[in-house]
Amino acid sequence: MGIVVVGSLNMDLVVKVKRHPLPGETLLGSDYQTYHGGKGANQAVAAARLSQRQVVPGKGSTPSVGVRMIGRVGQDAFGHELRNALKREGINVHATLPIAAPTGVAFIAVDEAGQNTIIVSPGANHRLRPENLTLTEFEGARVVVLQLEIPLDTVRRAAELGRQAGATVLLNAAPAQRLPDRLLECIDILVVNDKEALGLCGVLPDSPEMGLEVARELSQKVPRVIVTLGEQGAVWVGPEGSGHQPALRVEAVDATGAGDAFVGALAVALCEGETLPRAIRLGCVAGALAVTRVGAQSSLPSREEVMAWL
Ligand code: RIB
Repeated sequence: MGIVVVGSLNMDLVVKVKRHPLPGETLLGSDYQTYHGGKGANQAVAAARLSQRQVVPGKGSTPSVGVRMIGRVGQDAFGHELRNALKREGINVHATLPIAAPTGVAFIAVDEAGQNTIIVSPGANHRLRPENLTLTEFEGARVVVLQLEIPLDTVRRAAELGRQAGATVLLNAAPAQRLPDRLLECIDILVVNDKEALGLCGVLPDSPEMGLEVARELSQKVPRVIVTLGEQGAVWVGPEGSGHQPALRVEAVDATGAGDAFVGALAVALCEGETLPRAIRLGCVAGALAVTRVGAQSSLPSREEVMAWL
């Protein structure tokens, strides 16, 4: 098992709007559509699609970097559908259990520029408790991938178990919230976007230079820090130095899932032994391609698509 993702699964209810409403305002939008989402599940799917496929006679193809998802869904139609969608990607879902709680749902509005606003109702995701995690589920992991749509004490326990299993622990600090030092000290690589950087440092980086300043500040607590900057690419700081990876120029349709594509690609590249700058390059291409399509998991690119751009 190369990658273990501990995180959320959500059904995304998406409506297109001309512009986002002001507080207290009502707007009419398009018909809504449902898409498979949740930051954890999206990152697991991104990793599975970006790892090389191996054809197993009679069984279709499985990812060369094994991906396991640890999470919770409800015992309802959404939960059943989300879990099965991961199985179809070749992801191990033995530790993604259906429980007596509603499946997580995300209410997403996407405007004409492809920018989104998201409200998550965590449901079953917030019932994943630290005591539900066991070391066995982390054994053999090279990279453990975490986000913040499950309880913070569960994120911390997962990071500890990842460390015990000898894995690199990657935290995508999304959605934005303040993080205790007790959690950050268990993290090897921190990935934040500009808004999350604002939540952590009080500064909204709007250029690669400012992104690097923020990354340097955060690297006092975590060895390697990556700040993603949308159209301006990503910057990074680590013991090997620092750098800026510009983004691909693409036509933005829907930004949902772009950050998850970046993180999934990063995890696969690190699992395959790539350097941090090369892993970030792969992440930037995967993220840019995800922006060109609607939805979260529906927008995540395959390895072939990313390689064609590289
Ligand atoms: O990162 C995008 C994801 O955020 C969506 O799929 C939605 O479920 C929310 O978790």
